[in-house]
Amino acid sequence: MDEHAPVEDWATDYDIFDPEYIEDPTPVWRDLRQRCPIASTDRWQGSYLPTRYHDIQALAKMVPELSSRDPLVIAAPPWTDQDPEFPNYGTNAPPISSDPPEHTWIRRLLLPHFSPKVIEDYRPYTEDLCHRLIDRFIDTGRADGAVDYAQQIPPRLIAHLLGIDESRVDEFVEWVRGVLEIGLSQPEIRNKYRVIIRDFFKEQVADRRENPADDLITALVQAEHDGEPLSNATVVGICNLMLVAGIDTTWSSIGSALWHFASHPEDRRRLAADPDLFPTAIEEMLRAYAPVTMGREVLNEVTYNGVTMEQGAKVLMNFPGANRDPEVFDRPDEVIIDRARNRHIAFGSGIHRCLGSNLARLEMEVSLKTWFDRIPEFELDEGPVAWAGGQVRGPRILPIRFDAQRPR
Ligand code: HEM
Repeated sequence: MDEHAPVEDWATDYDIFDPEYIEDPTPVWRDLRQRCPIASTDRWQGSYLPTRYHDIQALAKMVPELSSRDPLVIAAPPWTDQDPEFPNYGTNAPPISSDPPEHTWIRRLLLPHFSPKVIEDYRPYTEDLCHRLIDRFIDTGRADGAVDYAQQIPPRLIAHLLGIDESRVDEFVEWVRGVLEIGLSQPEIRNKYRVIIRDFFKEQVADRRENPADDLITALVQAEHDGEPLSNATVVGICNLMLVAGIDTTWSSIGSALWHFASHPEDRRRLAADPDLFPTAIEEMLRAYAPVTMGREVLNEVTYNGVTMEQGAKVLMNFPGANRDPEVFDRPDEVIIDRARNRHIAFGSGIHRCLGSNLARLEMEVSLKTWFDRIPEFELDEGPVAWAGGQVRGPRILPIRFDAQRPR
C-alpha cells in the first residue's frame, strides 16, 4: 500500500506520519474519541490507536497479551548485520523491550540508579551546562531553542551518567534520530544506526570489564542476576535504551515548553513574574505536550472492549492522547500553568512507567528556570518551526528572538 496516500478516514486509515497530525494531533484525537475510541490502520504494517485515558491505562496493563518485545511504533526490520550474541527479534533495549519475568529483575536492578536522591546530585552539573549553553548565544539576541539549547542538554547528561565521551554528543544525537525519528520508517537507516549503537556499546562494555570506572556501565558490568553476571547482550541493550530513551524524549519536552512560552506571551509573563508556578507549569507542559507514544505487539488475536486486534499488529500507547481526554481533564485543550489536578500519564502507565522521570523533571526544571532567569522575555523569530512526530513528538527547529544581552 501507499503509506503516504492522503488519509480518507482517520478511524480506519490513520497515518501517524501525516504532517498535519504531527504538527497538531489534537483535532484528530477529539474526533476519534467521539466516534471511534480505538481507531485502526493498515499503514506501516498495521496498528490500533486508542484515544481515551482509561482505555490506554487498561491496554498498558494487558501484559503479556500485548508484548513489549518490539516497542517502537513500527516493527524493527531484520538485522542486516546480525551478531550471534544478540537477540534476532525486535528491539534489544531492556527493560522497555522485555516482558515479565525478565522485565521485573532488570527494572529492579536499575531503579536505585534513578532515585530522587541520586538524580539530585546531577543538579549542579545541569545548572552549569545550561549557563554555558546560554553564554554561547545570549549576546546575539537569537537562538534556535531546539538545536542550540534543548537538544544539547539530555545527551550530555546521559553521557555523564553512562561515562561515555561527552565531546561526541552530536554523534549520539544523530544515532538516536537515526533509530527513533529519521530511520523509524526507513529500515536501511534504522539498521545502520542500531548497528552503530550496538557496536559502540560493545566496545564500551569490553573496556569497563578491563578498566572499571565510576559510571553506570561499570555498575552494570559488575551486577549479577541469580549469581551470574549479566550477558553482554543485556548490558549493551540497557545502555542502548539509556541513550535512546534519555535523549529525544527530554529534548522534545524542553523544546515544546520553550515553544509554548515563546508563542504564548501571557503565560510567559506570568511564569517569569511568579517562579513559584514552575512545578505546576512543568507538569502542565508534560501533560499538554507529552512527547512519547510507545508500541505493543499483539501476540495472539485479542479482543478489548469489542475491538478485535489482529496478531502481529501494533497497539499504540497513545499517552499524549490520554492526556487530552475531557473525561479526566477539565478543559483539556487549554494549557493552564497552575492546573491543580493533573494526573497526566506522559511518563506512561503500568509496569513500564518511565524509570528516568526524576532525571527528566530535573532537566526540565533546571533548563527552564535558567532560561527564564537569563532571558525572561522572548518570542518566536521569523522562520518556520519544524516538528518531529510518530514515536517522539517535539520541535526540531525553533527560532527564538530576544533582546541581546551582555553575557553575565
Ligand atoms: C520528558 C522526558 C521523558 C518522557 C516523556 C518519557 C516517557 C516514557 C514513557 C512513556 C515510558 C513508558 C514506555 C512504555 O510504556 O513502553 C518510558 C519508559 C522508560 N524511560 Fe522514559 N521518558 C522520558 C525521559 C527519560 C529519561 C531521561 C530516561 C533516562 C535514561 C528515561 C528512561 C526510561 C526507561 C529506562 C524506561 C523503561 C522502563 C521500563 O520498561 O520499566 N526516560 N519513558
